[in-house]
Amino acid sequence: MSIQDTVIRAAGLTKSFGDVLAADGVTFSVGRGEVLGLLGPNGAGKTTVVKMLTTLIPIDDGTATVAGFDVTSEPESVRRVIGLAGQAAAVDEKLTARENLELFSRLHKLPRQRRRSRIDELLGRFDMASFADRPASTYSGGQRRRLDIVAALVADPLALFLDEPTTGLDPRSRAEVWDSIRALAATGTAILLTTQYLDEADQLADQILVIDRGQTVAGGTPDRLKADVGRDVLEVHVSTDADLARARELVAALPGASVDLNRRQLDVPISSGAAQSLDLLRRLQDTGVTIDDFQLRRPTLDDVFLALTGSSTTPVEEIQQ
Ligand SMILES: Nc1ncnc2c1ncn2[C@@H]1O[C@H](COP(=O)(O)OP(=O)(O)OP(=O)(O)O)[C@@H](O)[C@H]1O
Ligand SMILES: [Mg+2]
Repeated sequence: MSIQDTVIRAAGLTKSFGDVLAADGVTFSVGRGEVLGLLGPNGAGKTTVVKMLTTLIPIDDGTATVAGFDVTSEPESVRRVIGLAGQAAAVDEKLTARENLELFSRLHKLPRQRRRSRIDELLGRFDMASFADRPASTYSGGQRRRLDIVAALVADPLALFLDEPTTGLDPRSRAEVWDSIRALAATGTAILLTTQYLDEADQLADQILVIDRGQTVAGGTPDRLKADVGRDVLEVHVSTDADLARARELVAALPGASVDLNRRQLDVPISSGAAQSLDLLRRLQDTGVTIDDFQLRRPTLDDVFLALTGSSTTPVEEIQQ
């Protein structure tokens, strides 16, 4: 990415609230058409970072620019080039989507003659025509979230900030919001997205920054993060306790192998892919183990997050070597 293509740049962003260090030296950049996923649990500092970058709260230390404008010294210029869909909805429940968007377009000083066409274009692009003319109070969660995002887009921002855009949505609504976000990135908008959902970051983000209690825990592409944490895992399910005992004996010597007694499941890290998996499955069969089911799975971002922050574990007994 060349310098000119960088839209959002944060260097050493730091913020305290009393004793709480909510952000501690957070550094990243987001280019045109790129999605950065800021991933972390409750209280990690995600909203704090978004608020600093969108000029809502002052920065204690560090610097940030959006489209070359300094967030601290040129806040008005920054506000002109950004869109924000925050965690708290900004839309008026009593108004329809169309009326809400009309209001936002006036706030953003869109010329009167352009307002109507811009709003129609957005309602069409995000498939909102069927509910655009009834009050937002009647919307489903997914419809409301889409209105939040579209409201942030009225002024055609260069940089869009989405704070947990799919929290509380059902899987179908989430998928719809994901599609909208992908479509936006494809038009060149730089997007900073915060999420607690590891699969969401994996699905949408070009780069992921994992933060926890204000600290950067890890960063990189989704694939890179996954590669850092682990190899593929062969998951094998067997039928009976006797099968499990036999299988257990066979994999005991393999590094990192674990067995889940309750689920009659073996997890074996695999370093050389299909050949090694087939070999192991064949050896299990040769010793008379009946295999119910198996799968080779890539490490997920859940694995990444757990490995990095250790904030939760699965109850799996490690095989003693
Ligand atoms: N105005 C404030 N006054 C005092 N403490 C605050 C304030 N804003 C945030 N904090 C604290 O800063 C830390 C980070 O909060 P932040 O809202 O950035 O987390 P988050 O990652 O957005 O969490 P969530 O996923 O729950 O939205 C938390 O400990 C929070 O209590
Ligand atoms: Mg938050």
